[in-house]
Amino acid sequence: MVQRRSLLKVAAAGGIATLVPWSRLTGSTAAQATEVAEPAHSAPFAHPMPLPAVLRPARRTRTSDLYEIRMRQTRAELVKGLSTPVRTYGGTFPGPTVNAWRGREVVIRQINELDVPTAVHLHGAHVLSEHDGLPMDTIAPGGERTYHYPNEQHAASLWYHDHAHHLEAENVYRGLAGLYLIRDPREELLPLPSGTHDIPLVIRDARVEADGSLVYTRPTDCPHMLVNGKERPYTEVAARKYRLRIYNTCVNRYVRLRFADNTPFTVIGTDGGLLESPVQAEDLLMLGGERVEVVVDFSRHRPGTSVVLENTAALATERPEVLRFDVTRTAVDLSYVPRRLTWRQPLPRPTVERSFELRTFPEMTINGRLYDPNRTDVTARLGTTELWTVTNAEAPVPAGRPDFHLWHSFHTHLTYFRVVERNGKPADSRDAGLKDTVTLAPGETVKIKMTWGPYAGQYLYHCHQLGHSSGGQMGRIDVVD
Ligand code: C2O
Ligand code: CU
Repeated sequence: MVQRRSLLKVAAAGGIATLVPWSRLTGSTAAQATEVAEPAHSAPFAHPMPLPAVLRPARRTRTSDLYEIRMRQTRAELVKGLSTPVRTYGGTFPGPTVNAWRGREVVIRQINELDVPTAVHLHGAHVLSEHDGLPMDTIAPGGERTYHYPNEQHAASLWYHDHAHHLEAENVYRGLAGLYLIRDPREELLPLPSGTHDIPLVIRDARVEADGSLVYTRPTDCPHMLVNGKERPYTEVAARKYRLRIYNTCVNRYVRLRFADNTPFTVIGTDGGLLESPVQAEDLLMLGGERVEVVVDFSRHRPGTSVVLENTAALATERPEVLRFDVTRTAVDLSYVPRRLTWRQPLPRPTVERSFELRTFPEMTINGRLYDPNRTDVTARLGTTELWTVTNAEAPVPAGRPDFHLWHSFHTHLTYFRVVERNGKPADSRDAGLKDTVTLAPGETVKIKMTWGPYAGQYLYHCHQLGHSSGGQMGRIDVVD
């Protein structure tokens, strides 16, 4: 018999995830089966990569675009030849993309035709608290709610997803996620690749069983990697530059992306939109919730050749391929990445400091506490700049062991932040730009600063490994005037 003490020690050392019941790691209260049988066999590059559907406004007024979305259960082909039940916004997996313009309001009427409560959060948006999709502000099955988004912010790649208390991880996993792009006429003037050369890649893992069912379970049991809803697809590109808006929408894992042949790329933006100046890179580490925008030049590749985007953080039991680009033709390309992309107002000096410690064991906590919607954890004054020290208190595990459950992805609602420091050193290009999500490997500490605003009200900060937030790794912040 294994002694309880040694079990605890393994767990404390961040040991084998299987010693801890999956429900404890996710706080899952859902009765859905997490039992896995046989994953669907799937050959890579069996389907062309689709682009998410674009949502058309139901109506336009002088100031606003009005949309309607029905959340409903339907079926989608994630793995070639299999029909999988999914929870969707408007019947598509992922949900339809909303194209917004800076300064023009978007109003979305969300109708819940699912049999679970939902709450729609627009990740990365400056919105009033009542439109933020707070965990307790749910839409009951059969109900509806209308959300208002002012879009008084810079162009950026946002996404909307579920946030219903204890349910968000499974709801997002089952399909409740869609893109929301804020555009800005000034950004459109830049010579960046645009139009059909500006492509979103929504990357996430999944567990599709041989019978087509989708099982919500630990990431180490999720061998399928989807891009825009299809398992390891391929896409045809011209030998020219493309802008790729990369999203990690995995609920419980990080990915490390690079091209199999080390094709370099230029990072032009992150969560909060364009960087001030571009940065060259060869790989990207992305945890749940993060966005990175890159420009890749496929003219380095001859027409007729292919290049594969890989996840080097795939487990030994998984395939590393994520997406194959087939370079099919030459093209005239007048686009380029300017040396200066934008300018951002520097943040004032912080006047308030706080610290936050995130733990996986014994429970998913922040500063030792589980989320309680009736408890205010932080009160911040509107307009105040604060410096937050955020620590992942779990110890690293020996290389080669699955450690997804020990990573945290710290996310704040309402405002963006700057990463000032990582592990005592000034933040480097990996943490550049305006962020709303920052990754923390086991043992890491970051310092971030932000100005609380532009609205007062009740908001959240939490881990964006949604299994963790569903399990309670979330805090309430009240911004007061
Ligand atoms: Cu993308 Cu509170 O979440
Ligand atoms: Cu976490």
